Amino acid sequence: MADAPYPEIKKTHSMARKGRPWVDYKPPPASPVWSVIEGFASYHLLLAALDLDVFDTLERIGSTMIEPVATELGVSTAHLQALLDSLVALGLLEQYRDVYGLNDVARRYLTSDGEASMVGLIPVAPGPHTNWIGLADTIRNGRPETPIDDDPAAFYVPLVEGTFTTIFRAASRADMFIRYSSLVAPRVLDLGAGGAPWSIAVLTACPDATAVVNDLSGVLGVAQRMTAEHGVSDRCEFLAGDFHEVELEEGSFDLVVLGHVCRTEGEDGARHLVERAFAALRPGGRVVVSDYFVDPERKFNPHAVLMGMTMMASTVKGFPLTGEQVVGWLVGTGFEAIRLIEPIGFQFAYVATRPR
Ligand SMILES: C[S@@+](CC[C@H](N)C(=O)[O-])C[C@H]1O[C@@H](n2cnc3c(N)ncnc32)[C@H](O)[C@@H]1O
Repeated sequence: MADAPYPEIKKTHSMARKGRPWVDYKPPPASPVWSVIEGFASYHLLLAALDLDVFDTLERIGSTMIEPVATELGVSTAHLQALLDSLVALGLLEQYRDVYGLNDVARRYLTSDGEASMVGLIPVAPGPHTNWIGLADTIRNGRPETPIDDDPAAFYVPLVEGTFTTIFRAASRADMFIRYSSLVAPRVLDLGAGGAPWSIAVLTACPDATAVVNDLSGVLGVAQRMTAEHGVSDRCEFLAGDFHEVELEEGSFDLVVLGHVCRTEGEDGARHLVERAFAALRPGGRVVVSDYFVDPERKFNPHAVLMGMTMMASTVKGFPLTGEQVVGWLVGTGFEAIRLIEPIGFQFAYVATRPR
């Protein structure tokens, strides 16, 4: 029997067939499917806008009609207008009649000098773009064809440069929850530190703190540069090497940071990092495990679910990390006083204490 589009009642659901009480049947809208299809276009038009310098140009020249922007950028006016209109539709620019300008979102996140700029992060956040094209094969084979593990420095250097602003904000705000600034001369261990946002936040808040900053040798230069820029590099010891293997002083750190490092390591690797953190902490010291944690229903934090898929799309052992798993490892290792904090939106961290 032929189906019937809304608003006609579906033939199979008529009163004659179903009896009372009958239910009006309305086919679901296709909008969830369209929003996925348009997700591809949305991401690429944001990349194009950044590539063309649209947001920084609008910041420089102020709200304006389309022609001055097209002239300044040396691009086709008609195509630029379609791009700007699309950005308006996505809520990333504001427009009144023929005048376009930055809105608060663009000013904060999409300009190079925005307070919470994501300009460096946007191109690298999904991982290598080509891995998404091959996702079906990755799922068939259980691993991506060209994982970032093949050349970690090539991927992680731009990634940690791009994530620094966001994670530094999270790490600085985390002090309101865990009060590391009240520690006396704390020793910090930052495993897989990237640009060392956590170490820099603690060293900035505690003038007598010191840090051991670890990353792969090809990436550690970013931490050296960032700590120097923030005036704290003289209180850092830089430790190059695999965080599963580098030698760590046991029982001596006040804070161990596992910042967005567990989700690429597989379950055994992540648990091993939690165990290493426990061994390195002095009694009473705390571990910070920050990541995107999937909830038991798989629905309340879709960002974490998609981040898990992103890891699987581009790494050999990456996986969706659940809050339950992390708490299980922390409890199993012997940690106590486990808390979950969200220092800034979307950035979560478990904090737990090694018993005295
Ligand atoms: C997603 S970044 C997180 C950076 C930083 N901790 C943060 O919270 O922003 C992951 C970092 O772990 C580093 N990493 C990955 N595998 C590693 C390994 N086996 N040993 C040491 N560092 C590693 C990467 O180079 C990268 O800097």
